[in-house]
Amino acid sequence: MLNLVLFGPPGAGKGTQADFLIQKFNLKHLSTGELLREQIASRTALGQEAELFMDKGFLVPDALVIEMIRTELQENKHENGYVFDGFPRTVDQAIALDELLTNIGSEVTAMLLLSVEKQELIKRLLNRSKTSGRADDQGPAIIENRIQEYNEKTRPIKDYYTAQNKFHRIAGVGTVADIAQRLIETVNKL
Ligand code: AP5
Ligand code: MG
Repeated sequence: MLNLVLFGPPGAGKGTQADFLIQKFNLKHLSTGELLREQIASRTALGQEAELFMDKGFLVPDALVIEMIRTELQENKHENGYVFDGFPRTVDQAIALDELLTNIGSEVTAMLLLSVEKQELIKRLLNRSKTSGRADDQGPAIIENRIQEYNEKTRPIKDYYTAQNKFHRIAGVGTVADIAQRLIETVNKL
């Protein structure tokens, strides 16, 4: 299996690039952000709890997202592998993902960090706020919270994957097609 962790701050282009990777390598896209937004739209108990955190730009508790990914892996068995987008986001989630994949006889193949400067992230997200309908795109203060959560809780996962020799940094600026090409070249060399 090819299991890619697509990593990077809010607005780095994880969702955009995941679409290319799943097509190119025939993988299944698992975005915890998308899954949580579906739960909110369906007004489930999980969605209502998650919304309290997401709307302010804070991470949802680990237990909720880990359980969601466990269910997804059980219900969507995909023999080629997965692109994990926005998961893991804490070291505890990274440890949980290793356990979940070990249970199906697999492992994370690589972690791909899309590297983008903060000013560009803010520009992209404020631009997207005009059309996305996402509560967490609405305003600089919430976007700032999201970036701060990333810096404090998510960025440290880099060390976790570096220790496993799985960390790869990809420049996340330029055209969408150029960035996709960089990702594909990196994956082809794995
Ligand atoms: P999530 O949905 O994962 O959002 P995010 O990480 O904040 O990232 P985005 O989806 O906003 O950005 P992206 O990197 O996907 O970029 P995109 O391709 O859209 O999470 C949302 C919330 O859910 C979290 O804050 C948290 O509360 C909760 N959550 C989710 N997962 C969790 C977890 N595991 N644990 C705990 N809580 C969790 O691109 C952004 C914009 O830029 C788009 O408009 C795009 O068109 C544009 N763009 C893309 N590429 C380029 C380019 N090369 N040049 C110019 N513009 C570009
Ligand atoms: Mg996204």
